[in-house]
Amino acid sequence: MPAHNDFDLEKWKEIDLNMDSLWVIGERAKWGKRSNFYHGNFIPQIPNHFIQRYTKKWGWVYDPFLGSATTAIECEELGRNIIGIDIQPSLIERAKELVPSDHIHTHFWVGDSSSPETLRDIQKILKHRDIDGVDLAILHPPYFDIIRFSEKSEDLSNTKSVPHFLESFGKVIDNTHKILKKKWYMVIVVGDAYKNSEWVPLGFMCMVWLKKQYNF
Ligand SMILES: C[S@@+](CC[C@H](N)C(=O)[O-])C[C@H]1O[C@@H](n2cnc3c(N)ncnc32)[C@H](O)[C@@H]1O
Repeated sequence: MPAHNDFDLEKWKEIDLNMDSLWVIGERAKWGKRSNFYHGNFIPQIPNHFIQRYTKKWGWVYDPFLGSATTAIECEELGRNIIGIDIQPSLIERAKELVPSDHIHTHFWVGDSSSPETLRDIQKILKHRDIDGVDLAILHPPYFDIIRFSEKSEDLSNTKSVPHFLESFGKVIDNTHKILKKKWYMVIVVGDAYKNSEWVPLGFMCMVWLKKQYNF
């Protein structure tokens, strides 16, 4: 069995997951608890793919930009536990109602994912659960200021410039890196932006930032 998932590679023909580098996703998954109410949400197939590929059953997933709880819904569906944070209280209330702790373990709370307080809170949970880290972190931040998610100054969509955005997002990555199990996975999903009629390659800038910081 591979170390990071439950697939039986001897039966690789039966694995129902697109392993190509280009994913063409026909239609957004809409069944069950999935809804498309939140502007700026994930296509559910994206977190679903990563959860299947990079966690085992009952593994732990971390989402520091929980939004409409797409990752949490996929975790429930696939039998994975989740720690999810968002800066907006209404979204956290919704996540708690939508994905209760009946079938999987869930920890949802309101916080600034770039702060040292949030890092301490997660470390407390990990200690309480007696686990040495999360298996997979899925980071889907605001794409700088293209959608303003809230009025809060800590909201990454309210950062004043691209360097400020990268600095704040970098703090979220640093926090995440500290709670991720060694040799497991961090997925970053970020789109590019346009500013003053110019393309801002945010995805590429994040990769450069990561290379400089962690020498990946
Ligand atoms: C692109 S959305 C994530 C959408 C989510 N993947 C979904 O499917 O609904 C980014 C989210 O990050 C939240 N956010 C922005 N800055 C934050 C911060 N500093 N800490 C925690 N959450 C933050 C916003 O409220 C927003 O819900």
